[in-house]
Amino acid sequence: MGKRDGDFSFRSLGDSTEHSDLQAHANSIEVLQSFLERIVRGSMMTQPKSQSHRLATRTIHHPVAELPSQPLATPIYQSSTFRVEDAATVAGYAHEVCPQAFYTRWGNPTVEVWEKVVADLEGGEKGLAFASGMAAVSSTLLALLSPGDRVLSGASLYSATMKTLAEVLPRQGITTEFIDPTDTGAFAERMDPAVRMIYAETPANPSMQMADLAALGELARRNDIPLVVDNTFATPWNQRPLELGAAVVLYSATKYLSGHSDVVAGCTVSDAATAERIWKQRTLLGGCLDPFAAWLLLRGMKTFAVRMDRHNANAAVVAEALEKHPRVERVIYPGLESHPQHELAKRQMSGYGGMVGCVVGGGRAAGIRFVESTEVALLAVSLGGTETLLEHPASMSHAMLSDSQWERAGIPPGLVRVSVGLEDVRDLVDDLTSALDRLD
Ligand SMILES: Cc1ncc(COP(=O)(O)O)c(C=O)c1O
Repeated sequence: MGKRDGDFSFRSLGDSTEHSDLQAHANSIEVLQSFLERIVRGSMMTQPKSQSHRLATRTIHHPVAELPSQPLATPIYQSSTFRVEDAATVAGYAHEVCPQAFYTRWGNPTVEVWEKVVADLEGGEKGLAFASGMAAVSSTLLALLSPGDRVLSGASLYSATMKTLAEVLPRQGITTEFIDPTDTGAFAERMDPAVRMIYAETPANPSMQMADLAALGELARRNDIPLVVDNTFATPWNQRPLELGAAVVLYSATKYLSGHSDVVAGCTVSDAATAERIWKQRTLLGGCLDPFAAWLLLRGMKTFAVRMDRHNANAAVVAEALEKHPRVERVIYPGLESHPQHELAKRQMSGYGGMVGCVVGGGRAAGIRFVESTEVALLAVSLGGTETLLEHPASMSHAMLSDSQWERAGIPPGLVRVSVGLEDVRDLVDDLTSALDRLD
């Protein structure tokens, strides 16, 4: 048989005699054994004596860096799987929630660090990371609801959440009643024993309508059901739903938690028992977070507080400037006295966030012209990043909804959603107001 390339490189690097091949083999086993012992003892971990291994082996078993005890940046464990000691250890993982060194769909050390950070931010027991905000939403709904259950949900929601409630869950025998989120009394009136969850997004995307979390939390507690809150717009910097009575707080972490428009991710925070149910669903449905994305989230987290302060400050200035412009019919920002729920915002938020709704006179056509004519603010869906983004919900993020769903979700045709970024606010005001001037 002819010599294969691989054989050639193996032989050319090794000894030529049979005996020395065996000796090298024995040596390599010894080295490997002591290497494994060191790993098992947890002493991380010097370079295996790689020169005693052949090239093909060395291309797979890389030298392992000695880990400093306290790296400031969390290492990225970009590994799908983890070596285990024995079969019994694997069996043990079957009973664990989020084992961090087994298989990355179950859990991962880098991801776990971020989960701990978000749990800590929310003051909850357990954080769970997801591949997207929608993975967090769908896993939570499917984990906590069963056939025959009803959900009472705020009617103003991110479009894919609304579609999930209106179209996906009914196929599992779960129905949703959409209620004006500003009308807490209506939630109480519609309560009955089949209702197994209250769901709310506040401030809501994109109407900026608010739900009274303390009142809904109390209603949920009295009926022994969970209040699930999408806190994406407010973030834990500005609003803390668990402290106001929510059982689960969830996020599109794609937005402010990441902060740099470079990650798609989601998370939930809840008590440990609820997290276990959601984690099982995440692991079965497969919406786990990639370790590199978790690392980016951890990196973004280091500037979260300063970013949020600047988002809050810039948005307040932008909202006031837009409110004064003659082409603007209405600005919807919880921090403005003109917001119909400003008093509630003052009670339940410690800052008003970076999202501003601006209803342009002239309806749909004027809204589209406005988002297409700015220079600093960019036309793009998504929000919560460093750049100011504009979008027109009726033709973009919420275009998939029907006319009646738009109306229920509080989306006038001229509404433009502004995700106020971190630029110099004077440039933002100049840019937005001159684009409005040009509408004439
Ligand atoms: C309030 C809200 N929740 C959930 C989502 C879904 O998040 P993702 O796009 O990360 O899946 C979004 C997306 O825009 C959102 O705005």
